[in-house]
Amino acid sequence: MASATPTRREVLLVGLLFFFLLFVSRKPATEHVSNLLTNDTHSTTFSSGRRSENTQILDAHLSWGSSPVPETRVLAHVPGWTILDKLYILKGVVYIVSDEPSKVPNITHIISKGLFIENGEEAVASRLPTDEDIRVISTKQAKRLFGTGAHVLDGVNYFINDPYQFVTHYYHWSAELWFGFWRTYSSLDPVITHDGKTSLPPVRRLVFNHLDAYHWRDYAAMNEWVIRSAFPSAIMEFKDDWRDRAEMERPFVFDRVILADRSATMMTFNFARFQRTASSPFGLPGSVNWWMTMRNNAIQFTGLQVNTGGGTTSTPVITYISRQEWGRRMLIKEHHEKLVEELYKLRDTYGFEVNVVAAEKMSRLEQIELAARTTIMMGVHGNGLTSLIWMKPSPRSTVMEFFYPGGFAFDYEYTTRALGMTHYGFWGSQSFTSPALPEPKYVEGFQGNSIPLDGTAVARLCLERLSLSEEIDD
Ligand SMILES: *[C@@H]1O[C@H](CO)[C@@H](O)[C@H](O)[C@H]1NC(C)=O
Ligand SMILES: *[C@@H]1O[C@H](CO)[C@@H](O)[C@H](O)[C@H]1NC(C)=O
Repeated sequence: MASATPTRREVLLVGLLFFFLLFVSRKPATEHVSNLLTNDTHSTTFSSGRRSENTQILDAHLSWGSSPVPETRVLAHVPGWTILDKLYILKGVVYIVSDEPSKVPNITHIISKGLFIENGEEAVASRLPTDEDIRVISTKQAKRLFGTGAHVLDGVNYFINDPYQFVTHYYHWSAELWFGFWRTYSSLDPVITHDGKTSLPPVRRLVFNHLDAYHWRDYAAMNEWVIRSAFPSAIMEFKDDWRDRAEMERPFVFDRVILADRSATMMTFNFARFQRTASSPFGLPGSVNWWMTMRNNAIQFTGLQVNTGGGTTSTPVITYISRQEWGRRMLIKEHHEKLVEELYKLRDTYGFEVNVVAAEKMSRLEQIELAARTTIMMGVHGNGLTSLIWMKPSPRSTVMEFFYPGGFAFDYEYTTRALGMTHYGFWGSQSFTSPALPEPKYVEGFQGNSIPLDGTAVARLCLERLSLSEEIDD
């Protein structure tokens, strides 16, 4: 008995020690978890949907057993832009499960073969989807095909069924695919506030089924910035991953997916009018502040305050993005010099901040920071103007785009207007704005280096734009 007592005490002590260790080591971990849950860095813009996601138990499988296969639901749709819940994929084919196929949008307006875009009827026909791309099946057929369950691609997914043609370019990514995607997705939250707050959960996954992993970046390395600033924890899947999943020969199901398809968008009236794929989602409901979530995330990522810009409560900022050293699509040298002189006159007379910059000589950070602060952005038609998507819309916010007389493209005009800002095109000394716009046309000289411009007319219009009354802010 004498030896049994210490043993019992030992056991008790060890037990207490164990309990203590467990408690001490657990506590910080618990705090850490709750910090993650309540103090998420994204809380200013993505305010909900986080807690439930983080506390969700691992549930890789959606099992319906002997019940009917859950049907696919179409939440929003315009040609080329579709939000679906429970979209299935098996062996590389997309499946819409529905017992009411007449209510499913025309599949040629949802997805295509994802081929390179070329002109001509034959090319258009060759892009139409077939059974190898998409099928609409009943719940009964789905049961036979999928069995009793499917593996889950959880959360919100952005599925881009395009080749690299219009992905690897800052303008086409940010002002088309990203712009259109967010305009589509944000239609689910038509009350996004002016500072970009939304109740939408962030995107989990970007799925590129026609793209190699190295093929989504652009030469200016801006696409990375756009994606990582908006959804820092989103992962990306590419052609190989798509093939992996196909070769497993097991069904997967997207919880929620925003499906983009350029070829399908091209069938819309808005595309015919503006040649902008991002223009068709504007038929969906949405907040006037829809873009502020994306804009503010990028701005904050540079370290700037989101209320920067607009030029109504601070010194207006005029930014001329010069292409004079780019080698293509440049102003007549003397006309460029005259413009710079006129802008500096405005600076000296009125105290405006005037920047004459070359986008290719600035870091990404500098480009976004300057654009965010800019009230009037101007330049010859070109990729440098893509930065206008970081401007802060206000009654003064203006983009002035210089074309070879007779030439016009909707790219930046449409994008500016979609953000609620004002765009002016220039042909020499003549300027035009919506709705009195010319037909899009790539005239002789459009791409050349002798584009004429009247700097005095530009400076005069700057003054007109900046004498608008103060914005009434809430
Ligand atoms: C979250 O952050 C705020 C300010 O940064 C802090 O006051 C608060 O205590 C934090 N909440 C939690 C649960 O950590
Ligand atoms: C679907 O749209 C295509 C055009 O893209 C059209 O030719 C076809 O008739 C449509 N199908 C139905 C069932 O409306």
